[in-house]
Amino acid sequence: MVDAPVGIPESLVTTLQNARGIAVLTGSGISAESGVPTFRDAQTGLWARYEPQELATPEAFARDPRLVWEWYAWRRELVEQAVPNPGHRALAVLENRVPGVVLITQNVDGLHRRAGSQNVTELHGNITRSKCSVEEVVVEPREDDTDVPPSCPNCGAFLRPDVVWFGEALPVREFEEALEAARDCDLFFSIGTSGLVQPAASLALDALRNGAVIAEINSNQTPLSPYAEYLLRGRAGEVLPALMETAFGRDLGGHGG
Ligand code: OAD
Repeated sequence: MVDAPVGIPESLVTTLQNARGIAVLTGSGISAESGVPTFRDAQTGLWARYEPQELATPEAFARDPRLVWEWYAWRRELVEQAVPNPGHRALAVLENRVPGVVLITQNVDGLHRRAGSQNVTELHGNITRSKCSVEEVVVEPREDDTDVPPSCPNCGAFLRPDVVWFGEALPVREFEEALEAARDCDLFFSIGTSGLVQPAASLALDALRNGAVIAEINSNQTPLSPYAEYLLRGRAGEVLPALMETAFGRDLGGHGG
């Protein structure tokens, strides 16, 4: 007999089946199995000598816009080549099986929507979009613009990726949605996130204070682990499908990838 990848506690399954509201916070760990490196993983190739924390800042962009734009162009390419994995697809299934699921993600890769999730709150933006670095509005670069970075078609300022950098505020509407979901849920999943970056990391504690049960799915211990009622150690792409199959049966309603 082959062991299940991780033990799924029965009481978690019951809580999941009966939940009236579920908030799910995901981080880059859920996309690791799609080949998108996690934020704090060592970078490879040309970018190995740079720290992500030193490139994803307004100061880095002001100092060297070309370098920062090229780093994002490289990451955007990785994201475009990636496909959603069974972890993303299991969360899309969850949304179909339980009412009131809000998926809050720190990921900028758009893989949750590509897996079929619809109620997605992107807290840190989306790498596939660009915005004007001065006017802060989302725009498409002109097709004939070969500059690096390209310039805003409206005002000529540099374009930048539409993501949140270290030291920048989160988009207000998205953060309010996330906070409301955390405060209203009875089950809060924290999946594939190190829980090191505020204010996203505090959402689980808001949920806990409002009476929710916390379930963590992560291959490692995190600062949130001591607060979690359920610790599912393992890869999200294995644990989540196993959990959904246990809770909702084998027919998970094939979402494409
Ligand atoms: P991190 O790189 O900090 O953490 C990734 C987490 O995923 C770690 O806790 C790993 O143990 C876990 N992990 C890795 N592979 C996994 C797998 N297959 N299944 C389950 N867990 C796995 O990434 P984040 O927590 O997403 O923000 O980082 C949060 C934010 O920090 C990012 O959105 C980024 C950065 O600041 C901004 O750029 C604003």
